[in-house]
Amino acid sequence: MPALSANVSMWNEAYDWSQQGDEWSDAWGGVSYQWWVTLLARIQGYVPAGRILEIAPGYGRWTHYLRDLCDELVAVDIAETAIAHCRTRFAGDEHVSFHVNDGTSLAIAADRSIDLVFSFDSLVHAEHDVLAGYLKEFARVLSEDGVAFIHHSNMGSYEPGTYDPHNIHWRATTVSAALVERYAQAEGLRCVSQETVAWGNDTLLNDCFTVITRAGSRWDRENQVAENFNYSAHEMATAKRISALYPPARPSLAFGARERAGAGHAAALKLAESGDTDAAHALLQESVRAQLDPVALNDLAVLAHQSGDPEGALTLLEALVLLHPQHAAARENLAALRAS
Ligand SMILES: C[S@@+](CC[C@H](N)C(=O)[O-])C[C@H]1O[C@@H](n2cnc3c(N)ncnc32)[C@H](O)[C@@H]1O
Repeated sequence: MPALSANVSMWNEAYDWSQQGDEWSDAWGGVSYQWWVTLLARIQGYVPAGRILEIAPGYGRWTHYLRDLCDELVAVDIAETAIAHCRTRFAGDEHVSFHVNDGTSLAIAADRSIDLVFSFDSLVHAEHDVLAGYLKEFARVLSEDGVAFIHHSNMGSYEPGTYDPHNIHWRATTVSAALVERYAQAEGLRCVSQETVAWGNDTLLNDCFTVITRAGSRWDRENQVAENFNYSAHEMATAKRISALYPPARPSLAFGARERAGAGHAAALKLAESGDTDAAHALLQESVRAQLDPVALNDLAVLAHQSGDPEGALTLLEALVLLHPQHAAARENLAALRAS
């Protein structure tokens, strides 16, 4: 793995995040199938949790689900762009916050304050020093019965040169399940499950899912270790097969903060809460239509276009025509833009 600074610039600048990282779930048939089949199946006993700390959320592929399983969620990532994106994406969730961190510590979390640490599909690239740093922090931040579920590399358990010479999944070569267990023990923590998995292949246990808790917590037990060579061939393939037959959950979009809601808006939200979505939609549309200055919105779209943002202009005009279908200038501008 490149040094942490190169890693930061890779995620900040080089990676094309236009699909928010959802593309990494394609082999499962989509994000929701990977969540339900692979992730919730494993962490179901640890949620809901009072306070969740997510390490390395990227653009929020798992945050989207975790936020509904806790009272508070704090997430840290080394990439500023990821944190900025998550802040925008989850702006309506007041119990969720995002922070840039240094890649090894969890300064944002108070001692013994975290009930579930979660990290998936990120620390697989992290070498031993990063894991050592985070495990030290787990010993500080985990609550009495807190649990950490982390996905990390297991490539360190293979002699260099005896495995996939190209390391196609770019796993950290100095980390293994056994090393993580040793680090945990050194911090007075306990690994209670370790599942080594063949990720993207069926012969090499390149990854590991580890569950860590405090010694003496309600989860404490002898470490249960399992090798899962079938992870990709069975589990991933099963999720993909299910996705071909059954639709994904409807994406749950979040309402915004409510303090500034005017009378019509507030009434519409009440209707939505009572389950009358169609009436809520009609009422809020009416309320927004009454407040909106269509001429200003049309001109905003024109200016967006002139400033080199045709997609922004298109979005504004589509919204304007939705709210004011009779607005001739907006309709003509929209048609011109679509035709261009
Ligand atoms: C492959 S993306 C995965 C993001 C997310 N977990 C997901 O599955 O969609 C890796 C993310 O990990 C972050 N990252 C890498 N190393 C990190 C570290 N040591 N500490 C915190 N974040 C890290 C990167 O900035 C990037 O956002």
